[in-house]
Amino acid sequence: MGIADAPREQWATRVGFIFAAVGSAVGLGNIWRFPFQVGQEGGAAFLLIYLLFIAIIGFPAMLVEFVVGRYTERNPVGALEEIASGVWSYVGWIFIATGFIILSYYSVVAGWTIRYTLLGLQDGYLADAGEAESQFVSLASGLDAILLHALFMAVVIGIVAYGIQRGIELAVKVMVPAIIVITVGMAAYAFTLEGASEAYAYYLSPDWGVIAAEWQSILPAAAGQAFFTLSLGMGVMITYASYLAQDRNLAEDGAIIIGFDTAIAFVTGLIVFPILFTAGIDPADPGAGAIFVSLAAAFGDLTLGWLLGTIFFGTVAIAALSSAISLMEVVVSYVIDERGVDRKVAAVAIGGAIFLLGIPSATDLVLLDLFDLFADQILLVLGGLLLSILVGWSLSDLAIAELGRGTGDLGAYGTAWIWAVRIPVILVLIVALILGILEYW
Ligand code: PHE
Ligand code: NA
Repeated sequence: MGIADAPREQWATRVGFIFAAVGSAVGLGNIWRFPFQVGQEGGAAFLLIYLLFIAIIGFPAMLVEFVVGRYTERNPVGALEEIASGVWSYVGWIFIATGFIILSYYSVVAGWTIRYTLLGLQDGYLADAGEAESQFVSLASGLDAILLHALFMAVVIGIVAYGIQRGIELAVKVMVPAIIVITVGMAAYAFTLEGASEAYAYYLSPDWGVIAAEWQSILPAAAGQAFFTLSLGMGVMITYASYLAQDRNLAEDGAIIIGFDTAIAFVTGLIVFPILFTAGIDPADPGAGAIFVSLAAAFGDLTLGWLLGTIFFGTVAIAALSSAISLMEVVVSYVIDERGVDRKVAAVAIGGAIFLLGIPSATDLVLLDLFDLFADQILLVLGGLLLSILVGWSLSDLAIAELGRGTGDLGAYGTAWIWAVRIPVILVLIVALILGILEYW
């Protein structure tokens, strides 16, 4: 137990935990980052590698975090101090730092989604790609962006301040079903568009030549995206599992969470690419802003585009919120557990600091891109790698026992999981980290 004497909070229901974890996973990673990565990294070729990585590294790595969280019932820093010694006990600090950095720019992008939701209501999407681009540039950085970033952080602080059951659990139970219904509905609509078949070909039939020629950039991008989208590599799943009762089947919950996240990302592609192809826009435009520019231009072009855009960007904003909550909870749980700080005070102080750190990203797009690349391809991968080495190689007995707790004997599955962590996960992450570092410099 930490310094605080009050009993540690828990999720009220199993569904509450799953919704919260799905809420964390499904976010800007699926609806903003995923399509622009697909576009930037060669369409279906990227999708294929990404799906492969979700299965062979994402799933085992998520179970690693679950096991550590439920076993220790602590925040990431406390958890690592409990199970590791020497320098390894500092890995939790990398998680906290990563959470801080990601939320700082994540909130700026979330601010853009609020801006574009409002823009739809004002019928303000511009069909001309050049005009849409200058509109984006003027909205994405500067005072406007800072204010919306502040607004978004204020809402995140408000929810996290209310704690696990009354804040996070309640919020996600409303948000997650809404996200699912709306994305599926929009994909059905996108199916009827003129550019749909061309878009499906681009998105769904991989070009092997592209994989052969560009694996050095596809590989780290896909590994980083797999971690980012599943909220891995920075202790979110450690933190959320720490609020879990002991009798849950972790592997089953993990599979459900990953299934939802992957489905939402995949379906988002079925929305975004038909819309872009119908409006005659090239999905390969790189960078964090491209998807906003292209979609806004497409919405400016479509019949009732303002309405579709309002719904689309509004949903993205909600998805971003349920993820941002989890990013902040990592840092807040640390301050509560280890420093005995009151939850409300912690939420305001940490949220305020993250707001300040986000100001550079809200004033300069190039900085935002750099923050994103650094966090995604280096920090998350590094955090996931270190935790996998620790759990896979030096805590394997404990880990297998914890995975099986509440499920009965795992038999060969436990061993298969540990070996998946020991070899494929660690190898892919090492290669991705090296390629990511080379690319970053
Ligand atoms: N998984 C979230 C998304 O896809 C982002 C995220 C990353 C949230 C890391 C928490 C931790 O948008
Ligand atoms: Na995600």
